[in-house]
Amino acid sequence: MCGIFGYIGKKNPLKACLKGLELLEYRGYDSSGIAGIVAGKIESCKEIGKLSCLKEKLTLKALEVAIGHTRWATHGKVTNQNAHPQFDSKQSIALVHNGIIENFDEIRTRLEKNGIVFSSETDTEVITQLISSNYEGNLADAVHRSLPFLKGHFAIALIHKDHPDLIIAAARECPLSIGTDDKCTESIVSSDPNAFLGKAFNITFLRNDEIAKIQKGKIEVFDSNFKLILKKTERLESASKAPTKEGFKHFMLKEIFEQPTTIQKAFLGRIEEQQVRFEELKHELKNVKSVLFIGCGTSAHAGAIGSLFLEDLAHIPAHYEISSEARFRVIPPETLVVAMSQSGETADTLSAIREIRAKGIKVLGICNVKNSTLTREADHCIFLKAGPEMSVCSTKAFTSQITVLYLLAQYLAQNKNLDELKQIPAHVQKVLDQAPLIQKIAQKYCHYSNFFFMGRRYMYPTCMEAALKLKEISYVNANGYPAGEIKHGPIALIDTNFPVIAFCSNKQTEDKILSNLQELKARGAPILALAPEHLTSVTKIADDVIWLPQSSDLLSPFASTIAGQLLAYYIALSRGCDIDQPRNLAKSVTVE
Ligand code: F6R
Repeated sequence: MCGIFGYIGKKNPLKACLKGLELLEYRGYDSSGIAGIVAGKIESCKEIGKLSCLKEKLTLKALEVAIGHTRWATHGKVTNQNAHPQFDSKQSIALVHNGIIENFDEIRTRLEKNGIVFSSETDTEVITQLISSNYEGNLADAVHRSLPFLKGHFAIALIHKDHPDLIIAAARECPLSIGTDDKCTESIVSSDPNAFLGKAFNITFLRNDEIAKIQKGKIEVFDSNFKLILKKTERLESASKAPTKEGFKHFMLKEIFEQPTTIQKAFLGRIEEQQVRFEELKHELKNVKSVLFIGCGTSAHAGAIGSLFLEDLAHIPAHYEISSEARFRVIPPETLVVAMSQSGETADTLSAIREIRAKGIKVLGICNVKNSTLTREADHCIFLKAGPEMSVCSTKAFTSQITVLYLLAQYLAQNKNLDELKQIPAHVQKVLDQAPLIQKIAQKYCHYSNFFFMGRRYMYPTCMEAALKLKEISYVNANGYPAGEIKHGPIALIDTNFPVIAFCSNKQTEDKILSNLQELKARGAPILALAPEHLTSVTKIADDVIWLPQSSDLLSPFASTIAGQLLAYYIALSRGCDIDQPRNLAKSVTVE
């Protein structure tokens, strides 16, 4: 969360910084800000709201060097005062930050006792004032002497009014990439290498309290003992153009409609002679006695479906756990931990894998974003190949994740029966073709404020995922529940104003879910069923039905997921919500 960007070089630093921030806005859009140096003075502009609000207000012109920030608020409300960059009280340093300083209060109290006056509620100002109090003419040295006092994790970039030719950057457990172009005419620091302005760059990543002195076309990196070190650089080829909506009203809708293609991309090239092969695996996964999937949000739901695939296809005991809880679990030896993350930057997942790997357990990452931290820290990494996912609400990444997990289960089972998977893109297309009908149904249900989503077996994680889609983009209360569990308490909530969205595609449990629906109908719940074509008896119970193509239970999550995504999208559309950038959220969650 929070995007930080800094530019020094031959281009106009202000314009370059704005461009960089555009590419980082997915990391937070509570406020944004830019600071630079003009004639020995720090100049800045900050504004709450999206980057477009900053652009409207911006009067800054030629800056000698620039740093910028897009904020997802942690410490302190969404105000201009709390927006980044933050400054020291002498107005000599401007600093942008991603992460959390856990002992900020303690440091603040100490600095206040020394007469330093704070002007924001942020932990970021604490870092800035601390560095300022340690400054004796050498900015990198002041940073080096300050970092040991900070508890927590951070990526920072800062400038000083007396050093217009310099940006200092440092990082602990938060992503921060730095790089220069081939001709050494410009240098960039960015939370995400994908924001490197579309040119080829030679990049490296800061970690473990490393500090970088960034000048035009020249970068020096120091380790935590302030010893100059040589870092290996990676080649970042010019990024392709930022994706556009291609005529769709929102990225979310575009990404929903991309799924017949993205699902194919996830399996094409991975099935050879009826057998699964992953080119990314450095060596075969052997002696896997159990599998633990970890992830957050949508990625956790994919892991939950993955655990069913593993047990049903490979007969290997498998579980899933939310990343922030996984580190507290006892993990038996010879467990394969599979870390699911679209972005590869989710702090909860990264912290969990660091602890798990420290115990000697192997981690396989499944990720969409190349060069992300997960891809560098996991023992192996399989890519989703879904292309950039721009909407904060994850859609295509989820179906690519479950495609890869299905293949992984088949791979561990050494199965050769992969034909059914090839029919899935056509099934998905069949649901997409029903978008106008789903929109009509959404208009009927969009006025309710509470929903139960329910399903059994494969439909349980599928309905949890659909409920998450609805709540995050429509701001209504939607809970995914195992259908058998509703009678054990939650049924007390049911009345004529509490619709139930029933995911009926798990054949093995069909009769039972129909009985559960009867129980809910008897209490007046409006019922929308998502049902396979053969289940005609559901029409006697449900008020509305979305018909889905039939598949095995294993592959039933695909069609049901697409229907759930479209339903959530059209309900949010009817309610006039900000679909691609829902309130309080960010695409990449880099704080714990
Ligand atoms: C929901 C959503 C989030 C993410 C979660 C994990 O639509 O996008 O729940 O799935 O924050 O993100 P990744 O997969 O990047 O680790």
